[in-house]
Amino acid sequence: MGPIRVVVHGALGRVGQEVVKAVCREPDTQLVGVVDLKAAGDSLSLPDGSGTVPFSNDLDFILTSCRPEVMVDFTTARATMPAVRAAAKQEVNLVIGTTGLTADDLGEIDRLATEHKIGVVVAPNFALGAVLMMHLAGIAAKYLDSAEIIELHHDQKIDAPSGTALSTARAMAAARGKPFLRPKEPEKALDRRGEQGEGVTVHSVRLPGLLAHQEVLLGAPGQTLSIRHDTISRECFMPGVMLAVREVVKRRGLTRGLDTLLGL
Ligand SMILES: NC(=O)c1ccc[n+]([C@@H]2O[C@H](COP(=O)([O-])OP(=O)(O)OC[C@H]3O[C@@H](n4cnc5c(N)ncnc54)[C@H](O)[C@@H]3O)[C@@H](O)[C@H]2O)c1
Repeated sequence: MGPIRVVVHGALGRVGQEVVKAVCREPDTQLVGVVDLKAAGDSLSLPDGSGTVPFSNDLDFILTSCRPEVMVDFTTARATMPAVRAAAKQEVNLVIGTTGLTADDLGEIDRLATEHKIGVVVAPNFALGAVLMMHLAGIAAKYLDSAEIIELHHDQKIDAPSGTALSTARAMAAARGKPFLRPKEPEKALDRRGEQGEGVTVHSVRLPGLLAHQEVLLGAPGQTLSIRHDTISRECFMPGVMLAVREVVKRRGLTRGLDTLLGL
């Protein structure tokens, strides 16, 4: 069996550029084409200078001419769905990191995956440490009665609170199975302290100099527990992305999040 043939959609983006490097670095994957809205020229030089791959802003053209087995997508929510439809039609498996997809989008992805018998991995966070942070927070949520989350991101981030913070709050509430204890404070004061997600107050910090960080704080009388994850560079997403690329060709249907792939 040869290397897994991969196309990167959003190849000029901050994460897309890292995916291009990671796919080229690994011996069991092969970059066969790249797509970006900002494509200039019809080829992109490989990061190690060993050659070029076809480059276009026309996804259909790249899918038809390069015959990938997997397309990795880090673009925008608006760009992802048309790309998913095009790739599914050509029976190309999908690894999707783009955030901001709606429940309807995920429903359609699920349907397309089944209809076209392809594998799809959609993960709002490919950083293994962040996935573990959420998993550990879910375990702790069963034992400690109060929790708050501080999420800290670079000042270019459009959404607040972050998707990761909201999914952490949801996972903690689901694992706990009963409401967290809230401080007895007037509703108005609670509103001013941050966004409420599943009984967990989420505080959002936006500052230049930060990348992506999250601290889950749990409290009980006489003790606190902090679970913190820090993203130092976008390279942190690559082990998760490459795991998904290797796994998605073996799977059918939609897999949400890395937990299943990691056996958590
Ligand atoms: N799942 C994760 O772990 C994870 C991690 C980081 C970022 N993200 C998400 O990934 C996405 C991309 O993040 P980024 O920081 O790389 O953004 P970015 O703006 O740096 O890159 C996006 C790229 O997509 C391209 N693009 C936009 N529309 C397109 C279209 N219609 N066709 C082709 N290319 C198109 C842009 O030209 C750009 O190069 C965001 O949704 C972000 O929230 C997810």
